[in-house]
Amino acid sequence: TQRVLTGITTTGTPHLGNYVGAIRPAINASREPGVESFFFLADYHALIKCDDPDRIERSRLEIAATWLAAGLDTERVTFYRQSDIPETTELNWLLTCVTAKGQMNRAHAYKATVDAAVAAGEEPDANVTMGLYCYPILMAADILLFNAHRVPVGRDQVQHIEMARDVAQRFNHLFGKGKELFVLPQAEIEEGVATLPGLDGRKMSKSYDNTVPLFEGGAKALKEAVARIVTDSKLPGEPKDPEGAHLVTIHDAFADADTRAAFRADLRGGLGWGDAKQRVVQLIEAHVGPMRERYADLVAHPERIEDILQEGARKARATATPLLAELRQAVGLRRMV
Ligand code: TYM
Repeated sequence: TQRVLTGITTTGTPHLGNYVGAIRPAINASREPGVESFFFLADYHALIKCDDPDRIERSRLEIAATWLAAGLDTERVTFYRQSDIPETTELNWLLTCVTAKGQMNRAHAYKATVDAAVAAGEEPDANVTMGLYCYPILMAADILLFNAHRVPVGRDQVQHIEMARDVAQRFNHLFGKGKELFVLPQAEIEEGVATLPGLDGRKMSKSYDNTVPLFEGGAKALKEAVARIVTDSKLPGEPKDPEGAHLVTIHDAFADADTRAAFRADLRGGLGWGDAKQRVVQLIEAHVGPMRERYADLVAHPERIEDILQEGARKARATATPLLAELRQAVGLRRMV
């Protein structure tokens, strides 16, 4: 069997980028025969970026409801909260002890924070917590604890998965005695949507405040967000260049090949951006509208979600504990007799 695993940090409301980059491909992968899947709410990671407990609580509910509304089948998928799996933090420590500081120096997430501080004239490390600095090790623990083969993610996470591979390799080398204690995980990227652009053309991201919410705010919020997608200033009737227009990239993430071709042809033929946006709204709404109803129902019933997550944690721990016991043996944390 192949194991597929992915997580989403619980710091905000899910957006289209999370959906097309991670949720949709992960759910599709979970339906393949012979696949065992582990999807989780990365709420320990959330603490790195967010010190607002209410926001984290709300985000956990919204992200859990999003996965379920998007079609996650709890019979096939082990679905859990990272913070319900104490084995994660234990493995995190074992991995921390074999990870070179120099490797963490290269992590994008930490470097972005340093760059921002320098740009603001602050001390480079002013906003770097040890949580942020070691974030990729915690992520490696998430992945390696379940010996995942495939990790569906957007492009921004690829470096972290490469780091997880490196850590796994090093651990295998030091403690495996010829045996592969850890599977080397592979990032799985969906071409075309690996970096979905946001309203302003930069990567759609909570931190850039340029997201299109997947469900929150209903069809109205979707329409308003799409209306704010930046285009060039060509008027209706003027031919438009579809290549490089982020509206087209967002459109394509929800369109089949014929619809994509027709959209391009119409833009070249002078379709106005206003009408083009209306089409994009309709296309996305046709896809997410039915899910949004399930989402609203789930958010209104947190007790159902809580039950699902507790059952998921039980299953996840049943998988994680034997591996952790083996790792403790391997590193020398053994009983006397
Ligand atoms: P996070 O919460 O930032 O994003 C969740 C997933 O959504 C993808 N994504 C995008 N994909 C395409 N276009 C975009 N604009 C876009 N924005 C976000 C991300 O690539 C990601 O796949 N560290 C991770 C969470 C995590 C994790 C893990 C993932 C923790 N442990 C183990 C995989 C395996 C994160 O912060 O993702």
